[in-house]
Amino acid sequence: MSTEDCKRQAAAQALELVTSGMRLGLGTGSTAAIFVDLLGEKVKAGGFDVVCVPTSEATRRQAEALGIRLSTLDETPYLDMTVDGADEMDEALRLIKGGGGALLREKIVAAASARLVIIADSSKLVDTLGRFPLPVEVVPFGVTATRNLVISLASDAGCLGEIALRVTKEGTPFVTDNGNFILDCAFGEIPDPETLDDALKLVPGVVESGLFLGLADLGIVGAPEGVTVISNAELDFEEEL
Ligand code: 5RP
Repeated sequence: MSTEDCKRQAAAQALELVTSGMRLGLGTGSTAAIFVDLLGEKVKAGGFDVVCVPTSEATRRQAEALGIRLSTLDETPYLDMTVDGADEMDEALRLIKGGGGALLREKIVAAASARLVIIADSSKLVDTLGRFPLPVEVVPFGVTATRNLVISLASDAGCLGEIALRVTKEGTPFVTDNGNFILDCAFGEIPDPETLDDALKLVPGVVESGLFLGLADLGIVGAPEGVTVISNAELDFEEEL
């Protein structure tokens, strides 16, 4: 079974949690895009109405093209559920996100959601976060000074490694939907994600880190041998699946 098929399995299982009338957050990335495609098919089939808040301009364009009813977080500030992907996930449902550069809107939307469901293929499951370079969204002003402070405070939190400004294929800084830059922090294993996240929040130019801690309620992981569900909550998710 291909990675694409594993992602599809996870996305299809997440779709089973969606009921008509829900207010949904739509994630960003290739796995979330599969979920949005499946949701679009369900909406097109008729008799199923959801209102969705996308976490990026790319997802907004995709959902719009599929005829999914869209809203903004200002119009719809409380969401029943968000379905999103992740770059890494541990057994405690702690995540690294932002590989697609949408981490800030993803975190804002996740925080506005009663449930955050993460869909992923099994390559995203790790024992310890940090194999994937941690994306950190920063304001463009003073990015070198911000980077220096990130290096210093991350080091105090036990994290050392190359910190690179994300660039496009053309070599210009990658600009997020919010007009910011991304620092990709190749720390390797992050011994204490909570301490690192607290440290990063102390840096004035840091807008948000790609550490999603205590936000995810359910992980749906697709693998060739089937789908595994990791639940963090006292919610009755597994009964619904
Ligand atoms: C975007 C994200 C994505 O969820 C993450 O990068 C995973 O993407 P994919 O499903 O393509 O592996 O955080 O900012």
